[in-house]
Amino acid sequence: MGSVIKKAVIPCAGLGTRFLPATKAQPKEMLPVFDRPAIQYIIEEALASDIEDIVLVTGRGKQAIENHFDKSFELEHYLKERKQFQLLNNVERIAELADIYYVRQKQPLGLGHAISCAKSYLQHEPFAVFLADDLIYSKTPAIKQLIDVYSKYNCSVLAVQEVPKDKISHYGVIKPVKVSGNVFKVEDIVEKPAPENAPSNLGVVGRYILVPEIFDILEKVQKGKGGEIQLTDAIKLLLKTKPVYAVKFSGKRYDTGDKLGYMKASIEYALRDKEIGSKLKGYLKTL
Ligand code: UTP
Repeated sequence: MGSVIKKAVIPCAGLGTRFLPATKAQPKEMLPVFDRPAIQYIIEEALASDIEDIVLVTGRGKQAIENHFDKSFELEHYLKERKQFQLLNNVERIAELADIYYVRQKQPLGLGHAISCAKSYLQHEPFAVFLADDLIYSKTPAIKQLIDVYSKYNCSVLAVQEVPKDKISHYGVIKPVKVSGNVFKVEDIVEKPAPENAPSNLGVVGRYILVPEIFDILEKVQKGKGGEIQLTDAIKLLLKTKPVYAVKFSGKRYDTGDKLGYMKASIEYALRDKEIGSKLKGYLKTL
């Protein structure tokens, strides 16, 4: 049976300032985490959760993302001639992964604004949002865990994780009421609160299921923290008319938009690799 959520949006139009100078001339989504660009893990997570249509919101200087998911005739021809069939297979597979559509966000006015740029693709049904910075390594894909909660309650679902107090002001933070196990009803949400004002230690990370009503709200929402149209502010308004749930997903999350998080992800994804994992571990022990 196909998924109840068939469409996803991946906003990729941010400037990646935390990762300068690496991101000066290349999109941060294309920085490799071990052997593939971060964005490819995200697309693979969507496909593993039976999401069929993906809209990528891009901006200036992000063409490398489109090229990565397109056919590369020259490269494929070269590999065929040299009978490097394993590599050829890898390269061809990427272009066949998914139906990807692209829409431009002309100015980086914030995550909420980036999502509203994909309105015409998404406005008729609930959809998934992936933030490409957040890689989640898990047995069941993180977005699938959210889709399962959506299937039960038919309303928006946010991915949350426990965040240490000294980091809480980097997150949107929910005021939760426990429903069952790892599922919560969201009573309120606050963008980047000071630790003493945080309504809980549950911070939102980059996976959401949203209902299309969010688009009307995004049109009305005022600029918030950092002068940007914030998705959190729109969700806060959505709460006035529609229930929102949150799930404390199982899996390990890496913030690859941050230099330390990126290094942790690169090393741990490599350590899990059959071919080089044990060699890398041996090497790390010598340091
Ligand atoms: P971030 O704030 O983490 O990304 O936005 P950023 O702005 O690229 O990074 P820094 O903070 O300057 O290093 C979360 C997600 O929203 C997207 C980003 O691409 C990222 O995936 N985004 C953000 C947009 O698509 N458009 C925007 O205007 C802002």
